[in-house]
Amino acid sequence: MTLIKSVIDWIDVRVGIREIAEKELTGYLLPRNINAWYSMGSILLFAFALQVVTGMLLLIYYVPDAEKAFKSVTAIMNDVPYGWLIRMLHAVGSNMMVLVLLLHMISVLFMGSYKKPRELNWVTGFILLSMIQGISLTGYLLPWSQLSFWATTVATNSANAIPVLGPYLVEFLRGSPLVGPPTLGRFFALHVAVIPAGIAAMIAAHLFFLKRTGVSTPPFGQQDTLNQWRGESYTHENHPGGIPFFPDFALEDLRSIAIYMAIFLAVVFFDPYLFFPKDAFIPANAFVTPAHIKPEWYFLANYQTLKIFPNELIGLSLQGAAMTFLALLPFIDRGRERHPLKRPLFMICSVGGLLLWIGLSIWGHLS
Ligand code: HEM
Repeated sequence: MTLIKSVIDWIDVRVGIREIAEKELTGYLLPRNINAWYSMGSILLFAFALQVVTGMLLLIYYVPDAEKAFKSVTAIMNDVPYGWLIRMLHAVGSNMMVLVLLLHMISVLFMGSYKKPRELNWVTGFILLSMIQGISLTGYLLPWSQLSFWATTVATNSANAIPVLGPYLVEFLRGSPLVGPPTLGRFFALHVAVIPAGIAAMIAAHLFFLKRTGVSTPPFGQQDTLNQWRGESYTHENHPGGIPFFPDFALEDLRSIAIYMAIFLAVVFFDPYLFFPKDAFIPANAFVTPAHIKPEWYFLANYQTLKIFPNELIGLSLQGAAMTFLALLPFIDRGRERHPLKRPLFMICSVGGLLLWIGLSIWGHLS
């Protein structure tokens, strides 16, 4: 014990570590009525870190070559010790991360935490959502299975609906007129380097804004800083008499991460192929089109919207409009009230929007 204390003392003299710990951990106070929804962000940080680690391990054996990719993934599953576990953690983990991402978004929506002065928390979050969609789409191609090949063909094809630029965009995305080896090269670069670096930078910005504005006070129950509406000068939202981040809320975060891991590992061990349609086990073949090619569950609503309209441009424009509306929400919904039950218009639109998204996804799954 004295040795640990001497080491800490030695570092403290040079870095002032006790002062930092006091300011950022034990003295960093959160709202007294904070709830478990505020742990979703920490679960996401943990889930992203796990994706990075498992992704790096997969890189040791994965070969980004159209001739060898499928075989390398099969070898990871069958021959490499614990390769199946690493691959399942990565593939199932991506689905679980999207699920938590949606819950995080829903919670900040219903608690109105996107409102002034947290518009930039929301905008950086929205960019993160788009980048997570991009990293999933590019990752889907890498195993070079029938599912990878045809899902990417369908997804990139939808850009064709854009007037004039469409065909050029499709060829730019694919690196050739059809999905082929050049597509694998660029999707690989995007998936393992470009997008992860972008996500890391955007997470840093997201956390910077969180620290600058201070955590929002939940609009339920006892409130320490009642729905603050500040003027134009910058103020940090403090929570005097609140809960210390460490050890109190850090332990709550840990509990939430443990529950997340329990559910995640239950899928990995008891239903590992939950997110794998059978075409994921057949090598890519440009000459055989499978009967039913569907995207991942969180793209099913987009897929179904494109199918409903005979003109793809209408479907694509509607999706673009919905995404733009969501991205700009804090600038459109500017009322100061944050309690969901006191925002009837918001409740009707958000619950209606959610039900529409779920309905379209189920329709897309069954169609
Ligand atoms: C990789 C993705 C993401 C990570 C790692 C992440 C991380 C976090 C963390 C750690 C917090 C603080 C604790 C909490 O409230 O949960 C937070 C807050 C917040 N996030 Fe995210 N987030 C992500 C995506 C998103 C998305 C997609 C949105 C919405 C479009 C979003 C909007 C917000 C907002 C508005 C806050 C402020 C909440 C408050 O102060 O009460 N985030 N995020």
